[in-house]
Amino acid sequence: MSPEVRTVTATEYPDWMRAVGTGFLRAAKPSEEEIAGRLARTDLSRVRGAFDGGRCVATFRSFAQELTVVGGATVRADAISGVTVTPTHRRRGLLSRMMAADLAAAKERGEAVATLIAAEYPIYGRYGFGPATWTAEWEIDVPRAGLDPRWAGPSAADGGGRIEMADGAEIRKLGPGLHARLAARRPGVISRDERWWERGTGVDVPAHEGWTEPFYAVHRAADGEVDGLVVYSTDDNWGDGKQPLNKATVRQLIGVTPAAERALWHFVCSIDWITTVRSGYRAPDDLLPLLLPDPRAARIVTLADWLWVRVLDVTRAMEARTYAAEADLVLEIHDSAGLAGGRFRLDVSPSGASCAPTTRSADLTLDVRELGALYLGDESVRRLVDLGRVEENRPGAADSAELALRTGRRPWCPDVF
Ligand SMILES: CC(C)(COP(=O)(O)OP(=O)(O)OC[C@H]1O[C@@H](n2cnc3c(N)ncnc32)[C@H](O)[C@@H]1OP(=O)(O)O)[C@@H](O)C(=O)NCCC(=O)NCCS
Repeated sequence: MSPEVRTVTATEYPDWMRAVGTGFLRAAKPSEEEIAGRLARTDLSRVRGAFDGGRCVATFRSFAQELTVVGGATVRADAISGVTVTPTHRRRGLLSRMMAADLAAAKERGEAVATLIAAEYPIYGRYGFGPATWTAEWEIDVPRAGLDPRWAGPSAADGGGRIEMADGAEIRKLGPGLHARLAARRPGVISRDERWWERGTGVDVPAHEGWTEPFYAVHRAADGEVDGLVVYSTDDNWGDGKQPLNKATVRQLIGVTPAAERALWHFVCSIDWITTVRSGYRAPDDLLPLLLPDPRAARIVTLADWLWVRVLDVTRAMEARTYAAEADLVLEIHDSAGLAGGRFRLDVSPSGASCAPTTRSADLTLDVRELGALYLGDESVRRLVDLGRVEENRPGAADSAELALRTGRRPWCPDVF
C-alpha cells in the first residue's frame, strides 16, 4: 500500500524530526529540549509527512515569509524547508505529493510566491520554481589585496563613521532594525524572526550545530546612528610559529548605507594577524572585490543559485514590484500544475503597473519557472530566449521586457532556511 501523505500531529513530530535527520544524513538524534523548542514554534498545519506502517518516511514543511521584491515592497511567500524522503522510499512520487498539497494550500491562502533554497539544482524546476537569486563567496588573500596597512578606520571622505566592537545582546537589539532597512533596499531579502537573531548570537543553539562565539562589531555613522553590523569568527593559525596566518570568516555583514558596507569590509580586511578573509555568501555583485585595490586578491570559492521562486499568483506578484521602464507586454504563462498559468497583460506606465488576464495575443510565452527566475530582476529575458526557454512572439518584446524587469544591483537573499 502506498504511504499516506498528510499533516503531522504533535505526537508524531519527534518521529518526523528523526526522519528529517535521516534524509539530511544527520544520524545524531536531536535532544528532547530541541524537539520541544521547535514544536512550540511550529505551525503543524504546515508540516507534512508520509507515513508507512506508522513510521515517518518523508518530511516537508512550510512557513510564512515576507520576500522583498524589486522596489522595496514585500510579498507573502510560502517558504519551504525540511524536504526529505527516506532512502528506502525514494523515487516513488512522495516529494511530488507533498509539494502538490503544500502549493495548493499556499495558493488557497493567497500567497503570491513560494520560495526555497535547493539542495540540488535538478529537483524543483518541475514544480515551477526558478532560480531567482545567486550567491557568491570570496576568499581574500589579504596581503595581496593592496589595502593601506595604516588604515585607522573610516575617513571623513568615506562618511566619517566609526566602528565599535559589540556583543550578542547588542546585535539582538540592533539587528532587526538594520535588517528591516536592508530589506527595504534589496530585493531577495527575506524576513527574519526573533529566533533567527537568537540562533545567530548563540542563544539555545542545538548542540549538533556546534556553536562557537564569534566577534561582533557595528558601524556608527557620523551622526551616531548604527547603520551596519558584522559578525565574524577567527581561527588560531600561527603558521610555523613565528607568523600569524589567521583567517576571519564573516557570518553576516549588513551595511544599510554603501559607506557602512565599505567601512565594514575594510575593517574585516584590516584586522591585525588576519591574512585570509572568507566573505560568507554574498550577492554576486557585492562591493567587496572591487573595493580592494587589487580585486584579484579575492578568489571566488562559491558561485551558486540560491533563492528559488515559484510564482503562485501572477497578478499579485507582478503588481507588487516596480519596473525600470515602461512596457506593454502580454505574457503567456504555462503552468503544468494549473496554479498560475494564463495570459496576462503587464502594463507599466508612470502611474504604476497592472497585470491582469487578457485575451490579446501573446508577446512572450514562457513556463512559470522562467517567470520565477526573472521575477527579482536577476535573469536576462534575452538569455532565456537564446536558450529556447522563452518564446518571443512579437519582435522587440524580449528587449522591452529586459528593460522593464532588470535591476541595477542584483537581488540578494542573505539567509538559508
Ligand atoms: C530530493 C528528494 C526529496 C526527492 O524525493 P523523491 O520522493 O524521491 O522524489 P519524487 O519521487 O517525488 O520525484 C519526482 C520527480 O523528481 C525527480 N527527482 C527527485 N529528486 C531528484 C534529484 N535529486 N535529482 C534529479 N531528479 C530528481 C524524480 O526522478 C521524479 O522525476 P519524474 O517525475 O520525471 O519521474 C529526496 O531524494 C531526498 O530526500 N534527497 C535528500 C535530501 C534533499 O536533498 N532534500 C531536498 C532539500 S532542498
